[in-house]
Amino acid sequence: MKRFSLEDWPQLASHLRQPYHGNYFALYSSLYGGVVTDPVLMTLPLDDHMVHRGDGVFEAFKAVGGKIYNLRGHLDRLVSSARGLSLKLPCSLVQMESIIVETVRAGGKPECMIRVFVSRGPGGFSVNPYECPSPQLYVMVTALGTPFMQLHPEGARIRTSAIEAKSAGMANIKNCNYAPNVLMKKEAVDAGVDFTVGFDENGFLTEGSTENVGIVTRDRRLLFPKLDRILAGTTMLRGMELAKELVGAGLLTAIGFADITHADILSAAELLVTGTTINFVSAVEMDDRQIGDGRPGPVVAALDELLRRDMRQNRALLTQVF
Ligand SMILES: Cc1ncc(COP(=O)(O)O)c(C=O)c1O
Repeated sequence: MKRFSLEDWPQLASHLRQPYHGNYFALYSSLYGGVVTDPVLMTLPLDDHMVHRGDGVFEAFKAVGGKIYNLRGHLDRLVSSARGLSLKLPCSLVQMESIIVETVRAGGKPECMIRVFVSRGPGGFSVNPYECPSPQLYVMVTALGTPFMQLHPEGARIRTSAIEAKSAGMANIKNCNYAPNVLMKKEAVDAGVDFTVGFDENGFLTEGSTENVGIVTRDRRLLFPKLDRILAGTTMLRGMELAKELVGAGLLTAIGFADITHADILSAAELLVTGTTINFVSAVEMDDRQIGDGRPGPVVAALDELLRRDMRQNRALLTQVF
């Protein structure tokens, strides 16, 4: 077995380089006390309980045109997730916001994806959170994916997931234990569909692996599942606000939360999937059955357009970086 010491690091680091590192722009680590832009340095200690127990919370959001979209919405959810794990934030929200802006700036890309992690911190390898002296903050800036409908204008195909729905307590917080979400994504890839979506033990729709799901009924109501068994998606909630314009325009009659069954989905006029990375996506097929006329519908297209306009123009939700 080879043995290495600190002096061997430059040579070791050269073996660690990977082609996909080209998509990694910057990492802030509170353990470093600053930012690194060399992907080989973007590491966490194994004894951080976020690594070996999933004991941490996170957020994912994007910068478009040099401005971060809806940072406040994401930080509010981070605070609520941290509360769910009794996890102290490592700094104030004002400091966190400034660290995020500086890290995005260090990454040098006006279009990027940002992930913020608050971890229990290093402190040994047991499950005991009291073993960790201090929580840590990591901010990772990477390449931004292309919104789904740009890649697939024909719309998405969805399947019912076999993975058990999370309990209310776990579904409501964005914690770093995403094993059920990972398995849902794997299901979708293995089945050759775009997303799988869950149902709870009462047969009511929950959500996708990292997406919210809703329907437009034939009498033109935009409905999402009640918030108790899902993550309160920032895109879904913003979309529900923006959709009020569509009620005014006569495209919708109502907007709300409801218990949605599999049968409701099959009889819907439109089925939609939404989240930070994908924006609003029209789903045209559920479990091999066509939804509506089998083509992306007008409400989801209008919602996606409203969201994109909001990202460009709503100064109240934009944080200037570049
Ligand atoms: C489980 C889950 N549901 C829904 C969402 C969508 O939330 P948002 O619109 O805030 O990205 C996410 C986001 O990653 C998620 O992980």
